Amino acid sequence: MTEQDPTRESPTPTGLDALIHHRRSVRAFSSRPVSRDTILSLCEAARWAPSACNSQTWRFIAVTEKETIQRICREAMRPVIPNKWLVQAPLLMVGCSQLDIIANRIGGRITGIEYYRIDLGIAMEHMVLKAVELGLGTCWIGWFREDRIREILDIPERVWVSALLAIGYPKDAPPRKRGRKPLDAILHSERWGKRFLSGE
Ligand SMILES: Cc1cc2nc3c(=O)[nH]c(=O)nc-3n(C[C@H](O)[C@H](O)[C@H](O)COP(=O)(O)O)c2cc1C
Repeated sequence: MTEQDPTRESPTPTGLDALIHHRRSVRAFSSRPVSRDTILSLCEAARWAPSACNSQTWRFIAVTEKETIQRICREAMRPVIPNKWLVQAPLLMVGCSQLDIIANRIGGRITGIEYYRIDLGIAMEHMVLKAVELGLGTCWIGWFREDRIREILDIPERVWVSALLAIGYPKDAPPRKRGRKPLDAILHSERWGKRFLSGE
């Protein structure tokens, strides 16, 4: 019996594999609004994410007002890749971190690791996968002006904005799947430099 090549994708992934494989960054949305219950389901998925010391530093702002999304699009995106497509999104989830939580601050000061950013990333990716399950499309936005988002949404000093997530029902067929590095290029075995798959 030949060993299955673990780098090959299964033709019909199921369960979590299916969600992971079907997710794409969606940048064109229909006008269908995202309901209040759906927003709650997305945030419930985020709420159960792990976090350093269970400090749950994440906070979210669900922005659905068209004028606010238009203003963010106009004033808070960065040049070169101005993310103009965001204007169509019926929901913008603004990912924030509450920085004055003691457990998180002490740990991070000792290790130099910004745990609150890791926590937020995990929680928002929970949201992304839940969105796929609910038939929604999402796209992360990291190319924005933190100071402008802060001003537009009245975010206080002790709260940090790390990521935005555009969410809505996809307008078109799913975008083309973007490539990924092969497993052998990203997975080392036992120590840095020894490839897990080829052993070289
Ligand atoms: C932290 C982060 C920031 C991102 N920022 C942007 C962005 O500002 N604009 C954008 O169009 N896509 C952005 N993306 C989406 C990536 O371009 C996308 O995930 C990548 O090209 C892979 O494509 P896929 O998500 O369809 O697999 C971001 C993704 C992440 C995780």
